[in-house]
Amino acid sequence: MAELLLGQVISFAGDPFVEGEAAARHESHGAVLVKDGRIADVGPAGRLRAAHPQAPVTDYGRALISAGFVDAHVHYPQTAIIASWGKRLIDWLNSYTFPEEMRFADPAYAAEIANRYFDLTLSHGTTTVCSYATIHPCSVEAFFTAAEARGLRAYAGKTCMDRNAPEGLRDTAQSAYDDSKRLLEAWHGRGRLNYVITPRFSPTSTPEQLAALGALWREHPDCLMQTHLSEQLDEIDWVQGLHPQSRDYLDTYETQGLLREGAIYGHAIHLTKREKDRLAEAGASLIHCPTSNTFIGSGLFDMGLATSLRVGLATDTGGGSSFSMLHTMAAAYEVGQLRGHALHPAQLWWLATQGSARALHAESRIGNIAPGMEADLVVIDLASTPAIEQATRRAGDIWQALFPTIMMGDDRAIRDVRIAGKPVAQSSSSQPSG
Ligand code: GUN
Ligand code: ZN
Repeated sequence: MAELLLGQVISFAGDPFVEGEAAARHESHGAVLVKDGRIADVGPAGRLRAAHPQAPVTDYGRALISAGFVDAHVHYPQTAIIASWGKRLIDWLNSYTFPEEMRFADPAYAAEIANRYFDLTLSHGTTTVCSYATIHPCSVEAFFTAAEARGLRAYAGKTCMDRNAPEGLRDTAQSAYDDSKRLLEAWHGRGRLNYVITPRFSPTSTPEQLAALGALWREHPDCLMQTHLSEQLDEIDWVQGLHPQSRDYLDTYETQGLLREGAIYGHAIHLTKREKDRLAEAGASLIHCPTSNTFIGSGLFDMGLATSLRVGLATDTGGGSSFSMLHTMAAAYEVGQLRGHALHPAQLWWLATQGSARALHAESRIGNIAPGMEADLVVIDLASTPAIEQATRRAGDIWQALFPTIMMGDDRAIRDVRIAGKPVAQSSSSQPSG
């Protein structure tokens, strides 16, 4: 069954970090034809209405239709501890994160938080996430069950840790391999779900565990592998002490078979020249988590890397301080300013959609509006609050009209969300803006 959505439409024909704003396409009176869960056509409203006169129409007026946001690095189990005060990475993990993750031994708690998490992210316009679970297999099952019930394209894996974590939050090299393999075989490629091999980071995995997960990845090369890299200076010193034989942090992964295309490294702030060169040569993805990097005090990501590597954008819930990819774009802009890069709104929007999708090797399916792509869409109200509305009155083009929403918008700007073409049923935690 087809449906014609009318509004302003934004999409990408290229990479704005390479081609500048010319990579973006904007139809100010545009239309998207959705059919059988996919985008069937996109273009000027007049042409699509004439070509598809039978299709029912939903007219969003001056609102902006975009691909839904793709959040490329999150920890859904940290939903309830978001915005916890006063710690840096290692203390933050020990004080807030690990006690909360312990609770996911209970499948009912895992299901409650997974459902709460997806209600929150959908109300913020995020249609795909790539998440860490906890060490508990039931936390992966809860995530995929909640994603599947909503029809989402979703990515996650069991977080593996066999040292430097409390009793009750440690597995072993063998059990991490066995549990990950069983979960991968059960969930990977089931509908729109994808299993991601997930060693947490080198401080909490022995070389034996990293090697076991490297072996699993070799056996399942079409999976992604995600972990953390060079987030804080204290962490890097710790890694050097734990792995004295390694050339650098990246080497702790590289020597265990955990560096190649499909490797996704969160944060990646404090990199050496060798690491940057090797990451680019290997075709790895880096995920910029700007609200987290300022909130936990980690540092400023170098967006110059976006021309040589796949770079995605993420909230890093709950080290990040927001579920909103609009807030995350705003933080990426501010971090860019501090590093001397004024990111163009087209670059910010691309990072939150097609850039993140490309980091997850899903750019031909999600993160853009083009025929054949999955119809996961967000509709943005460009005047969602009085403060934003007054700032857009003199806008001369779409970027001037959009930038106040990027900088000041939140879930009130999310007018509608479509998953595989269908409107998302609003739950109690959503706040439709009418
Ligand atoms: N490094 C290892 N685990 C984590 C985590 O849960 N959050 C963040 N921000 N960094 C990490
Ligand atoms: Zn993380």
